This record gives sequence, C-alpha cells and structure tokens, in this order.
Amino acid sequence: MYSSVENRLVYRCMQWISGSLYYLILRRRCSRANGGRIMAGMTMSTANCLAQPAQLQGEAVQVSKRSTRTGRGAAVAARHEEEGTDDEWLMYLEPAKLEVFDHLEPWAEANVVPLLKPAEVAWQPTDLLPDLASLGADGFHAACCDIRARAAGLPDAHLVCLVGNMVTEEALPTYQSIPNRFEAVRDLTGSSGTAWARWIRGWSAEENRHGDVLNKYLFLSGRVDMRQVERTIHNLIQSGMVMNAARSPYHGFIYVAFQERATSISHGNTARRAKEHGDLSLARICGAIAADEKRHELAYTRIVGKLFEIDPDGAVRALAYMMRRRIVMPASLMTDGRDSDLFSQYGAVAQQAGIYTASDYRSILEHLINQWGVEELVATGLSDEGRRARDYVCALPRKIRRLEQKAHERNDKKARPTASIPFSWIFDRPVNITMA
Ligand SMILES: [Fe+2]
Ligand SMILES: [Fe+2]
Repeated sequence: MYSSVENRLVYRCMQWISGSLYYLILRRRCSRANGGRIMAGMTMSTANCLAQPAQLQGEAVQVSKRSTRTGRGAAVAARHEEEGTDDEWLMYLEPAKLEVFDHLEPWAEANVVPLLKPAEVAWQPTDLLPDLASLGADGFHAACCDIRARAAGLPDAHLVCLVGNMVTEEALPTYQSIPNRFEAVRDLTGSSGTAWARWIRGWSAEENRHGDVLNKYLFLSGRVDMRQVERTIHNLIQSGMVMNAARSPYHGFIYVAFQERATSISHGNTARRAKEHGDLSLARICGAIAADEKRHELAYTRIVGKLFEIDPDGAVRALAYMMRRRIVMPASLMTDGRDSDLFSQYGAVAQQAGIYTASDYRSILEHLINQWGVEELVATGLSDEGRRARDYVCALPRKIRRLEQKAHERNDKKARPTASIPFSWIFDRPVNITMA
C-alpha cells in the first residue's frame, strides 16, 4: 500500500497532525465537561472522553469537583502528581515512536506471525462437540445426552464463571477493533498485507473459535438461560470496553499481553475444575482455549519484550502508566439488563471459585516483570521518569502481596458475612458469595 519509506513518513506526519488536532478538540470537550476548569496536573484523561461510558465520565467530573475541596483536593492532586498526567501517552503517537513499528515489521514477520496456527491444522469447535453430520441422528442424540449428564454435575458457581468467560470471548468484534486503533500497526484497508495486519486478523480468527465453542457447549448442556446469556453478549458488544491510552501501540500491546495471560489462567482453571467435577468434554474445550491463549500471550510478550530491548525508557514508562491505572478486564461493561453490578458479581464468584483471583493478577505482573527484565533495566539508560516508572512497577507486586496478606489476616480474625446473589444466566438461582 505504501510503496516507499517516504510515503510512510508523509502518512505518519499526517497522522500526527490529525492526532494533535483531535487532542485539542478533546481537551476542549474535557474542559467543558469540567465546567471549564482544568487544573494544573489534573487534566482529565482524553481516554476518558474517548472510551469510557457515561457513568465513568461522570466519575471523572466528580473527581474534578472534589478536587476543589481543601484536604481531599490536595490528596487527589498529590495522587495525580505521583501517577503523572493522563496525557502522557500522547507522546507515543509522535512519528519517532511510531516509526519503531515500521522498522520492526520484518522482525514481526519472522517472530510473531509464525505463532498463528493455519486453519488447516488448528482445532475447530466441531472437533470438540457432537457433529450431527458424522454421528447421524441417533449418535448425535446420544452424544448430547452425554454432555447434559456430565454438565449436570457442575456447581452453579462454576457455570457462572463459564458463562462470564464465554460472554467475554463472544465480544470479539470489540477486541478486533482494539488493535485496529493502535497507530502504526492497524489494518488500514481491512485486508492489508503487512505483518501487523495479518497478525491482527489471524489472532481474531483464532479467538473467534473460543466464544463459538463455549456458546455451543452451553447451548447443548441445557444448564443455562441462553436468552439471558445472549442478551448479555448483545449488550456487551454494544457497550464496548474501557481501555487506557487506546491508540498507543506500546500501551496497547502491554494491555493485551496481560490479558492473554489472564485468560489463559482463567480457562486453564476452568478446565481443571471441570475435570474434577467429571465433565471431561468441557475440560477438553477449556484446555484447548487455554493453550491458544498461551500462544497469543507469547506473541504479545515477545512484541513488548522487543520494545524493552530497543526503547527501554518508553516501554517501562508505558508499563507503569498502565499498571497505575490498573488493567481493567475487557468485559467490565457487561450487563444482562437486570443486574447493574453483574461484572462485579461475576468477578466475586470467579475469585471465590479460584478461577481468576487477585493473586493471579499479581502473579501475572511478576511474570511480565521477569519476562521483560524490568528489574535489570540499567538506571543510566533511563530518564528520571523512566527510573521512577521502573521502581514503581518493581515495587508493585510486593504492595499487592501485602494487601493480600492483610486481607487473609482480617478474614482469619472474624467471620465474613455471606450474600446470596441470583444470576439470571442460571435461571435466577442464587450463588453464595462471601463478602470481602
Ligand atoms: Fe480467547
Ligand atoms: Fe487469546
């Protein structure tokens, strides 16, 4: 598409100019949302204006209003000073930063694209579920009865986790649009031949099977209210997702590396629990998905590892930026149209069932710090901000571990109340959740 390096440079300049104009417009909008006030060091995130839903934008406005109060305002300002300005990520849209990805394209062709599995050898949902065409009517009926019999032994908490994971996977249209928002790597035509564009499409094609196979399994199991589940998927795709620094490939690849490892852990734990409950077909399905996620994690971890190699200062600052704002799960905006707090309830069940826990979040961070050699970054190669970012990231797992220990100690001292939460996904049957 771009026949020469010159054309690409012209394109980058145009992107930067249009990005800057866009940024000015957004600042103006933010300023209006704040009643005209943008305090020093308190500029509202452009990402908030771009990607966050109305209720979160409202929250940002409230923060601004609170900040005018004595004491509380000072604390908020101090926190922002520590976090850095929300606009910091915009510097990653400068041509010099984006050109890194042009130079890395041959490397991506050799080291990232080969991690995709061609359709001819990859598993397909039909390999893991009864196939009417090959089994015939009687064989298919018997296989479906077998699925229902095995699924009958799954506890409700496990079903809630499984539905939550499936709904998350089914919102793939949103996720494909995410890397297509990353400047310099996005698929400009929809069928671009660049290594980055082919990776994005190939990755999406692999991800598509995850929601597909889980949806079909749950349909055949007869254990869930499919209409409520489908409604949740519909709502989630309509709502989109929250992501900080959405156009920066540095921040974006860090986010996806974290997420791929998180989904691998979640599906892997679901597979283990399914096996314990005697549902071997579900264990196989979740195991196959977890293996895919692991391969995807490898690809994104490699990309970010390369960024740490060639631009350690930029990479560690982007990592600190993302961790300070926390990695929010992609399905955080899910709703079934009844429970306004559905995502939190699903998260609490997943934590309690050991499917995805706060300890997993910390262990993912520890793993990535280790993979990317963050602790070994030499101070002389970093700016002041880079050194602060490195120190912040390296101290974070210890902070999270301390919080975990305090929570355990608190729980050991006094019995926690239990809440009974009904989930529409399982016909409003309640699941007991121990409150934190
Ligand atoms: Fe997936
Ligand atoms: Fe994945």
